[in-house]
Amino acid sequence: MMTFSRTWIEVDLQAIAANATAIKAHTGTCLITVIKADAYGHGAVRVALALHEIADMFAVATVEEGIELRKAGIHKPILILLSPLPELAEALVAHQLTPAIDNWQLAQRLVGAISRTRLPVHVDINTGMNRGGVHWTEAKAFLEKLKTLKQLEIGGIFTHFATADEVDKSYAYLQLERFSAVLDKRALPVTTTVHAANSAATLTIPEARFDAVRPGLSLYGIYPSAEKPIPLQPALTWKTRIGWVGWLEAGEGVSYGLTYRAPRRTRVAALQVGYGDGYPRALSNPPTVGRGPVIRHAPKPTTTVEPGPIPRQTPKPTTTVGRGPVPHQTPKPTTTVETGTATRHAPKPMSTVERGPVPHQTPKPTTTVGRGPVPRHAPIGGEVLIAGKRRPIAGRICMDVTVVQLEPSDNVSVGDEAVLIGKQGDAELGIDEIATRAGTISYHILTQISNRVERNYKPSHKS
Ligand SMILES: Cc1ncc(COP(=O)(O)O)c(C=O)c1O
Repeated sequence: MMTFSRTWIEVDLQAIAANATAIKAHTGTCLITVIKADAYGHGAVRVALALHEIADMFAVATVEEGIELRKAGIHKPILILLSPLPELAEALVAHQLTPAIDNWQLAQRLVGAISRTRLPVHVDINTGMNRGGVHWTEAKAFLEKLKTLKQLEIGGIFTHFATADEVDKSYAYLQLERFSAVLDKRALPVTTTVHAANSAATLTIPEARFDAVRPGLSLYGIYPSAEKPIPLQPALTWKTRIGWVGWLEAGEGVSYGLTYRAPRRTRVAALQVGYGDGYPRALSNPPTVGRGPVIRHAPKPTTTVEPGPIPRQTPKPTTTVGRGPVPHQTPKPTTTVETGTATRHAPKPMSTVERGPVPHQTPKPTTTVGRGPVPRHAPIGGEVLIAGKRRPIAGRICMDVTVVQLEPSDNVSVGDEAVLIGKQGDAELGIDEIATRAGTISYHILTQISNRVERNYKPSHKS
């Protein structure tokens, strides 16, 4: 894969196809592959083409996403997971898209839009996610009413789990019980496809498999929880290039706010990637969390007081403008400067010269997988791979640039590759670790990768 881009992702379509095949073999059911949000950032059209022989149905969130697939020549059934607004009925019919349905207004509007063949719909049952769907206690009545509309065919019925990725599966089993109570064979046509399982349930709750499973995240080789019953291959690598290499004198700052100070004479490299590309600003180092006002001169080390640990309680919001620290993360002051200056909060001591290199202060993250609870610690700063080694981010991530701290011996120059997510040599930075370091989840990291980032595919030809 040759590229001359400043930043790009490499998507291994064979890995995605292998994951889909492994999932299908694991469940022995039909497979509805979830490729919404541009296939979780991997590129919906290319992923759909790669999965065409394996998937029984594709699922996206919106009508626009469905139309994009139809225009690209995808002929398989396409389910729109989010019950579309009624005014989109004509577009649904025109493009032969299969809507999730949870309200009567959409049903009536669809009937008005259909002129010849019946349109299959999948009835969304709310069993406890409580963000859409027909409430399970009202489902039978809704199904009966829907059956009176001859233009519509109940092609499917489904629900969605709120906690299948958690260790405690009791709520998922309660949802399953509610869903099963709705599945009265007499109330449903025999051809109706019953489905419920997202990746977590697909992998770990056999009772949730029914006729089809509906995984998203796992297709891309990412586990939704710590349970890993089948091997999956990560499919995405995110790379960038070094655009500048320089030296900092001890105590010199880097990037907006000068929040990082060189611990000694330090070599740094600027990568041509930033939050404008979707690289999370929360990976800045030190993180923009409660560090108080920035001191723009080399500090006198003894005049400031070490701030205590970041308090857990919700802080009072302080309005922030421009590129200042993230307000909701700013903790209440716990320490004040003894010397009685105008500063109300204890500034972070800027004596990084004495405190040793930044990477040694970076705590190791306890990696969060899937949608697991976002770690309660503050973001802890990111690392990238350069020449097969982990190197820490230095200072605030900018819109187009991210600076990293090198070791003096690093043999790097302008144009060299750096890896943001994935492998380089023997080193690896997994997406779960990146998400944890940024205080978020893998789904979020993937879907933030912007259009500025070129997508390269392996194999490169369209299958
Ligand atoms: C209704 C529905 N089904 C299935 C999925 C796939 O979930 P996952 O990516 O966790 O497999 C999603 C994703 O959020 C969804 O909204």
